[in-house]
Amino acid sequence: MTDFKKIISHAKEYGFVFPSSEIYDGLSAVYDYGQNGVALKKNIRDYWWKAMVQLHHNIVGIDAAIFMHPTTWKASGHVDAFNDPLIDNKDSKKRYRADVLVEDYCAKIENKIEKEVNKAAKRFGEAFDPQQFKATNPRVVGYQEKIDGILKRLGKSLEAEDLADVKALIEELEIACPESGSRNWTDVKQFNLMFGTKLGASAESAMDLYLRPETAQGIFVNFLNVQKTGRMKIPFGIAQTGKAFRNEIVARQFIFRMREFEQMEMQFFVPPGSQKEWYEKWKQTRLQWHLSLGMGEENYRFHDHEKLAHYADAAADIEFKFPFGFKELEGIHSRTDFDLGSHEKYSGKKLQYFDPERNENYVPYVVETSIGLDRMFLATLSWALREEKLADGNSRTVLKLPAILAPTKVAVLPLVKKDGLPEMAQNIIDQLKWEHAVVYDEKDAVGRRYRRQDALGTPYCITVDHQSLEDQTVTLRDRDSMEQERIAVAELSSFLDAKLNPKHWLQKI
Ligand code: GAP
Repeated sequence: MTDFKKIISHAKEYGFVFPSSEIYDGLSAVYDYGQNGVALKKNIRDYWWKAMVQLHHNIVGIDAAIFMHPTTWKASGHVDAFNDPLIDNKDSKKRYRADVLVEDYCAKIENKIEKEVNKAAKRFGEAFDPQQFKATNPRVVGYQEKIDGILKRLGKSLEAEDLADVKALIEELEIACPESGSRNWTDVKQFNLMFGTKLGASAESAMDLYLRPETAQGIFVNFLNVQKTGRMKIPFGIAQTGKAFRNEIVARQFIFRMREFEQMEMQFFVPPGSQKEWYEKWKQTRLQWHLSLGMGEENYRFHDHEKLAHYADAAADIEFKFPFGFKELEGIHSRTDFDLGSHEKYSGKKLQYFDPERNENYVPYVVETSIGLDRMFLATLSWALREEKLADGNSRTVLKLPAILAPTKVAVLPLVKKDGLPEMAQNIIDQLKWEHAVVYDEKDAVGRRYRRQDALGTPYCITVDHQSLEDQTVTLRDRDSMEQERIAVAELSSFLDAKLNPKHWLQKI
């Protein structure tokens, strides 16, 4: 995988992601998406929406407002419990999330495991079985036991709000401040992550609001509206994509942890008692969605939570192998009847469902799938970016994005800027643009244009040359194999449909 710094600079150089308000030196952990980034982001969102809403007869979408009545956040538990444990280093004056310091420590041990595995793979060659090696090599087993022990203790202390033990753990592991190298830590304190704001014209009448820290609550407060107007029968789901805001303390690793980000969430309402079954089902369905994009089964794993959020009776992350190690990409949570039950209590309105099969009213249980769009963007970009050595000794930078997500699907390139070739290229664009994102490029030698499109992740280039004028054929170049074939203009549409129709991708789920 490419070095993380290269990913960040590539994202900027090719118009994917810019630091926010950069002319004023940027704003920490806030980013803007450029012309290619916005297209990649939209394609990820569309791929999710199609899989979740369009392909499920019992899931519908909504778009709730970012501002919500402030009591929402009291009911959801966010006012009292949406905290991060913070610790300051007295020498560098830097503030850290205590749990992240411990997790980073574990990630370093995990790197040691990786190194042992890679070394052994070289030694044993073809017959090497990494799983067996991990399960039996005494050094690796020791490392893994250490990680498991640390994370278990961290989970327990956080669950019990035993912040003194979290500090004790940091001290016992001799974790030093990455900035100053010192171990001179303050006590661990809780810090609420919600951004406050005000609604109203005058200071006296203004109402204190929060920017939503998750989109889920917009779904819960609309549960009955959707159920009644859509005549939805349980089990059914409500999906939503939209911005969420968190005053993250350790906002770093580029767009991995941002203060303003986008979520794609789905709440699935089920009869009480069936939540475990649905939780397992959604875990698998969501993993299949990821795998359908072809970014390597070995790059995903489940992490079952030891410490459960205040609303959950089971929770797991789908983790992805980012350049800085396996980290959470998506969460699947069995949220019980906590949210609807709590909104009932705070609003005084019944949020129940009459189940004709059971002949009873109940507050439904909820299984949630929640993925960060920006985090999925980072996963895709970091997996896709490669530096490749070519047979002729040269190298190329290529973004091997899953073709279905690529911002531009086809670049049409006239070999020269004359003799009617640009006009023919434009005609081809006019044929294809109804179905696909197509660009025209006539600047520089065709080899350089190929490289430019490789770096942008464009899966196909079509070159129009003099022969094209005579026999209505063009050269079609494949980004990944770099192979070129002659194809009739009349066949382009069906070729591209076979490769880029979402149906062929989503059928794998
Ligand atoms: N409604 C449940 C919920 O919000 P979460 O685990 O806090 O759960 C869900 O967030 C997903 O949102 C995460 O798996 C991650 O992909 C994304 N996410 C959370 N905080 C983020 C942040 N500060 N920046 C970018 N993405 C974030």
